[in-house]
Formats: sequence, C-alpha cells, structure tokens
Amino acid sequence: MNILILGSGGREHTFAWKLAQSPQLSKLFVAPGNAGTAKIATNVPIGVNDFEAIKDFVINEKITMVVVGPEDPLVNGVHDYFLQDDALKDIAVIGPEKLGATLEGSKEFAKEFMMRHNIPTAQYKSFTENTVEDGFQFLEELNPPFVLKADGLAAGKGVVILNDLDDAKKELKAMLVDQKFGAASTTVVIEEFLDGIELSVFVLTDGLSYKVLPTAKDYKRIGEGDTGLNTGGMGAISPVPFADKAFMDKIEQRIVKPTVEGLKTDKMPYKGFIFIGLIKVGDDPKVIEYNVRMGDPETEVVLPRIQNDMVNLLKAVADQKLADIALQLDERTATTVMTVSGGYPGSYEKGKEITGIDSIEDSLVFHAGTKLVDGKVVTNGGRVMAITSFGEDFKKALDKSYRNVEKLSFEGMNYRKDLGFDL
Ligand code: AMP
Ligand code: GLY
Repeated sequence: MNILILGSGGREHTFAWKLAQSPQLSKLFVAPGNAGTAKIATNVPIGVNDFEAIKDFVINEKITMVVVGPEDPLVNGVHDYFLQDDALKDIAVIGPEKLGATLEGSKEFAKEFMMRHNIPTAQYKSFTENTVEDGFQFLEELNPPFVLKADGLAAGKGVVILNDLDDAKKELKAMLVDQKFGAASTTVVIEEFLDGIELSVFVLTDGLSYKVLPTAKDYKRIGEGDTGLNTGGMGAISPVPFADKAFMDKIEQRIVKPTVEGLKTDKMPYKGFIFIGLIKVGDDPKVIEYNVRMGDPETEVVLPRIQNDMVNLLKAVADQKLADIALQLDERTATTVMTVSGGYPGSYEKGKEITGIDSIEDSLVFHAGTKLVDGKVVTNGGRVMAITSFGEDFKKALDKSYRNVEKLSFEGMNYRKDLGFDL
C-alpha cells in the first residue's frame, strides 16, 4: 500500500523508518519531510494544513493511508475533511477527528472531559476576560506556585508557572485582557500545582480497544538540571524506570481505560495515538495534559521498541481490529539525545552543514530540522537531529548515544549532557 506521512520532524522520520520496514509498503511519502525522510521516502513539498493539496496528491498517488504527525492538522479537522469527501472517505487516516483532537486543542475541554469521567487531574477553574476579577480571587485562594494555562494551542508556550501572587495576577490579565497568546488565551485555566516527577504514557486506540505503548520521559528544558527555557524536547528515555507494574496498573485502570471509555460514551470517534502527560504525586498518577498525537522526541524511543509490523498495527486501527493484535516489545531501554542549533529555543541560524552522520555506529539517526542543499545535509530548525540507542539500562543506552553525538558536528551545535540525571 501507499502511505503518506504528514510532518517534518524527528517523529515523522521515525514513523517513516518504522513503516519502511513493512513488506506491505509499496510507496512512502512524507509532506513536507526533511533530509532524513528524503533518504527512505519521497518528500513532497506540501504543508500539513494544505488540505486541498493533500487531497490532490492522495488521489494522484493512490494513497490508502495517511499518518498525521503533528496536532495542528488534526485540530484543524484533517480527518473530518477526508470523511466528508466522497473521493477520500475510504482512505485510512491515523489521528482523531476534530472533536477528539479538542482534547489537545482546548485545555478547558480536556479538563471537563477528565472531570466527567473521573480521571485524576489537578483541581482547576477557568476564566475569561469578563471573569478576570474572579480569577484574581481564585488565585488568592490558592497556594503558590500558580499554574496558568492558555486554553488553546500556543506552540507549547501557553503554560506559565509563577511563584508570586502579583506576578500571577499580572500574567492572568496579560493572557485574558491583553491577549498575550492571541485567541489561544481567550480562556485561561488556572489549576492546582502538582508536585512530582513527570512521565508520558502512549496509547494507540481504534476507538473500541487500545494498546498501552511503551512509556517515556522527555527532557523539556534547554539547560542541565532541568533549568532554563522550555524546548520541544531535548531527549527521551523509554521505558521510565520508576513506572513499575503496580504504578502502570494504576495508570491503566484509573486513566487509560476511563479515557478510552469516555471517548466512546461522549461519541468522540478516535483512531490514533493518545499521548498522556502524567505526573506521579506520591504513588498516584495524575493527568497533566492530553496530546492527540505521538510526542517528539518520545517517538524516537517508543517506536523503535515496538516490534510489530507498523503497517499491520495502523491498519488494525483503521479497521477497528486492534483487539486482534498482540503488541510485541523490545524489553531493552532506548534513549535519544537531541542535538539543537545554537541559540535555540531563542533565535538561531539555519543552513549550517552537518558532518559526521556517516560515522555513527550502533545507533539510529533521526533527522528533525534538516534539509538537503546541493547534496549536503544542513540545519533547518531548532531541533536538528536525534541519536537513538539501545542498552540494557538507560545509562548504557545513553553512553552509546553520547559517544555517537560527539561524532556529529555543526556550527553552534548544543545538546544536554545530563539526560537521566533525575532517575
Ligand atoms: P503542558 O503544556 O500542559 O504539558 O504543561 C507544560 C508543563 O508545565 C508540564 O510538562 C509540566 O511540567 C508543567 N505543568 C503543567 N501543569 C502543571 C501542574 N498542574 N502542576 C505542576 N506542573 C504543571
Ligand atoms: N515532547 C513533547 C511533545 O511532543 O509535546
């Protein structure tokens, strides 16, 4: 079969790498892709939100499955667009319809979903410009730190955590009244601060049954010791060592099952990945957020640990036959280290030549922000390249990733050298 992947990051390169191993695959396309996907698939210069161009391409190339990488097209309704078009409605789309995607597109919607289905999460209230004074009062009732979340998609920047009450009030006003995040902060969710260690659980569902995929922990801050600005993710480790059987059972019973059941009860058609951001408070898991896609760079450690044929697995999702499949996992630990451009997550330059890729041994190279120029691989984004390795434990896997990262070079290259420091 012919498959189109939407996206251009390390996540999409990993999906391409995994799908390319299936004997069922004929042609693989990635829109728009990167220098890594160009080696194993055909890149197509189409934006992920250009539904009309996607439609033409899918029809011309006889695509029978579209795998959606990022949240944007899902929140914009790409799956619904396919279902509503006679020429596209039989093409499998991996990723939820717009209603399901609202679990990521609106924090308030997600909180209401969790409350309705008794899924453990932080206590909260939401506010708009008209109720900003009530928001100030709510902040006064809470203990610091104060967690303020823009309701809508804000490119990962919409969560602000502040220690000072006056700062929190100013931030609330900036979000609601001054529209700091534009329409995304028309509504703001204020919630209880949860103190604990974070992890992510990934679930694949066909809307009827589900598979719990490997857990992962990502490192979001740019600086060592989890300091400095938030990034898209500087590396990841799977499985998460502290997520033992007893804790995973709690996650499945209290969170995964009620989530999938809740989707059914609420008539939210969902065929795709659910990325559940969790925090371990004491011995109990609580949900921080839902994402309606795989994580990046978590995908770079989760997919390599799945041994099933990926085309089979995704076809089962599309056909709602996931219950018939047994998940096969590599028990080893996988780690990935993300190399980033100098200056990232602030401003950075692009177009720097990357050398040393061919000297990497015994690790997987997943391109993120790269492109090919005159046959050379150059940087084309903040996050540039992820190096994934396997090991008996996370330390051994990380040693391998770091040994190989040292062989890579581009002007300004930066990476975190302390992944796993908190485990
Ligand atoms: P989100 O965009 O919802 O993932 O939030 C970004 C980050 O903010 C999370 O990864 C957490 O580190 C932190 N965070 C979000 N909500 C809370 C909370 N209620 N308590 C503590 N930390 C939080
Ligand atoms: N690594 C976090 C994310 O993909 O949202």
